[in-house]
Amino acid sequence: MVDSFGYMSLMAPPEERLKFINELDLKGKTVLIRVDLNVPLDEHLNITDDSRIRTILPTVNYALDEGARIILISHMGRPKGKAVPELSLAPVARRLRRLLKKEVVLAPDCVGEEVEKLVSDMKSGDIILLENLRFHSGEEQNDDEFAKQLARLADVYINDAFAVAHRPHASVVAITKFFSKCAAGFLMKNELTYFYRAMEDPARPFVAIIGGAKISSKISAIENLMERVDKLIIGGAMANTFLKAIYPDIGTKSLLEEDLVEKARSIMRKARQKGIKFYIPVDCVVTDRFDVKAETKMTTVQEVPEDWMIVDIGPATSYLFTEALQDAKTIIWNGPMGAFEIDAFSRGTFQMVHSVANSYSLTIVGGGDTDVAVNKVGESSRMTYISTGGGAFLQLLEGSRLPGIVALEDHASRDNQTEES
Ligand code: 3PG
Repeated sequence: MVDSFGYMSLMAPPEERLKFINELDLKGKTVLIRVDLNVPLDEHLNITDDSRIRTILPTVNYALDEGARIILISHMGRPKGKAVPELSLAPVARRLRRLLKKEVVLAPDCVGEEVEKLVSDMKSGDIILLENLRFHSGEEQNDDEFAKQLARLADVYINDAFAVAHRPHASVVAITKFFSKCAAGFLMKNELTYFYRAMEDPARPFVAIIGGAKISSKISAIENLMERVDKLIIGGAMANTFLKAIYPDIGTKSLLEEDLVEKARSIMRKARQKGIKFYIPVDCVVTDRFDVKAETKMTTVQEVPEDWMIVDIGPATSYLFTEALQDAKTIIWNGPMGAFEIDAFSRGTFQMVHSVANSYSLTIVGGGDTDVAVNKVGESSRMTYISTGGGAFLQLLEGSRLPGIVALEDHASRDNQTEES
């Protein structure tokens, strides 16, 4: 399908591809909900940001209202198939109790007799959170036996874990084979619907802002976006590789992917041929060492001192990028403009947060710590949508099909065929 601007549409709308939780009968059923509760913890195991927990509440509350028994399953960190006490979901269970104002039992494991006994004693409205799925190697191996053990616990499977949909893991993919009733939750619906609106049916001009450290991890996303956007803004250390394609000296300490300079040049050439407005920094913040106490100064990108490094976009670039957003109707943003974890290198990213928040457009932010920057500046309520996905969001930007979504799509299409015959 080609839209009136000549852009190619690759996906059908999510409601045509998937079944959602509100299409299933949950009354009196035991419902296994795959969520992503992989939240950041500090050294005392306190949750430092509970946004991911809050985003699953609509799905959990809906299942509660429908009179289901609810089993929540999630991973936490990367324990590599072993029980690691620091990666227990105990802090998450405590936070869920507070947010739901309800008892949430933390099971000692996610499979096995003890868990089965706990589940068989459940009543309508009860919630059990099973312990970290990745304490078992079967999870990451997408193992059928492990998936079967999980599936045995419930009548219905709901996947509301967008942030892990790019992982072909047992609780995401294999498990769908062992349920006759499967659907996506409301968080998944939001993620896919906003993404679809931006990528397949955008109000124009459509602007993508791509930042972050490495161009190599974003090339596929940039190439996919070039088939869709009207303007492309590049910031962060990855912009250095584009700058190097034009200017010989960008500071010997600046992050650079030398082997991709030619690729960067060809992307800019292609943008020109396609009539895409392509923006890279014109000035920058530079420092002689990556340190909180280091000396910094502003320069144009042509005048970076020899053994200094670029660590943020400069004020003229912020102004230029803000101007480029003035007429935007759709904005997708992935990746910061500089090393914003250090205060002196954070202005470019924070200014970009305000510029995106002030725009009169649909704004979707996701991946690469961009959400962290938005929260830090206190502008999250002024973004249209902040994705919970890091790797999953980036893979969608690349145009990849996520295994977790494909599994749900396949299940829904099998369902439809059965209903038709
Ligand atoms: C994430 O935090 O992006 C998801 O929870 C996936 O985690 P993973 O990268 O460890 O698979």
